[in-house]
Amino acid sequence: MVDFQKTKEFFYIPKGLTYLCGNSLGPLPRNLPTVISNQLNEEWGQLLIGGWNKAGWMELSSKIGNRIGNLIGAPEGTTIMGDTLSIKVFQALGAALKLNPDRKIILTDAGNFPSDVYIAKGLAAFANRDYKVKIVDTKDIFGNMNENVAVLLLTEVDYKTGDRLESQNITLKAKSKGIITVWDLAHTVGAVTVDMQQIGADFAVGCTYKYLNGGPGSPAFIYINPDLISLSRSPITGWLGHANPFGFTLDYEPASTIKSQIIGTPPVISLSILNFALDIWDEVSLEEVYAKSMELSGLFIAGIKTKCPEMTVMSPENPAKRGSHVALGHPESYPLVRFLTEQSVICDYREPGILRFGIAPLYNDTEDIMGAVEVLAEALEFKPWKFERYQSRNYVT
Ligand SMILES: Cc1ncc(COP(=O)(O)O)c(C=O)c1O
Repeated sequence: MVDFQKTKEFFYIPKGLTYLCGNSLGPLPRNLPTVISNQLNEEWGQLLIGGWNKAGWMELSSKIGNRIGNLIGAPEGTTIMGDTLSIKVFQALGAALKLNPDRKIILTDAGNFPSDVYIAKGLAAFANRDYKVKIVDTKDIFGNMNENVAVLLLTEVDYKTGDRLESQNITLKAKSKGIITVWDLAHTVGAVTVDMQQIGADFAVGCTYKYLNGGPGSPAFIYINPDLISLSRSPITGWLGHANPFGFTLDYEPASTIKSQIIGTPPVISLSILNFALDIWDEVSLEEVYAKSMELSGLFIAGIKTKCPEMTVMSPENPAKRGSHVALGHPESYPLVRFLTEQSVICDYREPGILRFGIAPLYNDTEDIMGAVEVLAEALEFKPWKFERYQSRNYVT
């Protein structure tokens, strides 16, 4: 049984703050600054260049990949770290298109995160091979899977509404039509249970700064189905993806393992931070965290319906159909977010008019949930949209 009181202590949350934004950026693990500062002194400080061999810096990408693999149903040696999620989307898409060379369509849905769609369009234009990105309504994904589609690119938990796609059924149908699947797990990993190997996904990518608490801009991951690893060609052929990087030959020969997806020098400091943040997952089971998340988000939705009836619940009411954040709609959403922030209840805003409340049971509890409902009810009475100071937009919303 997970002791959620203990997991809460693992993190530092400023006193008095109700932090419901872990779906955007997870909080700092309390002991991380000390641990990392010591590690920097011992490794970078003392070992300098020797750190690459003596401190295992080169192995960090695979080691952490395997730790994250445990959270997404990926067997050892199928997941590796590096770069940003947008780059990993590009890599996965590029490799997937090459695996389906006679087809021209990248299929995605209108609920996908814009960066994924931009990357797909950019790659299609750059490749100059008549590739087309087809964007369909989420409800029409099944109907658009056919023999012309090369790759299906989808985000498993909708970044706005928190809706979960039926990844198993979708992947099964894609397979039956010869379509390669690329799953974006940004809002899934560390929040809800998935099993990439069991559902037969071809590629999966995700970031680590949300529910994995790796810190702002922490490195992303890429998973490749074990059957496809040696066949997948990264469209970015950096030296550390070479079979023998330190041979320094001018002919590119990809590694036959998941290491072929490494591009350049690993971000050792960011990886070390992430590695420490992942320690919490050695003590908890994702199944229990997910069960608690469903309970807390259910409580939140029930509270909103009772105390804030003006709000529209935009996330599915069936807990099995939503991820770990709850989306609420209101015509004056942005001033509400500003007011809540002023009252130390942290959530965020997404167009059009959506307030998102991330629920991360590792550090959120019933008190946070009920407190946020109370403050939102007060906000609706106060009507912050009547005051100019709540109207102005920050660059990051
Ligand atoms: C679903 C999804 N995909 C892709 C991205 C882009 O990630 P990055 O900015 O790390 O490249 C995000 C960012 O939040 C996201 O939520």
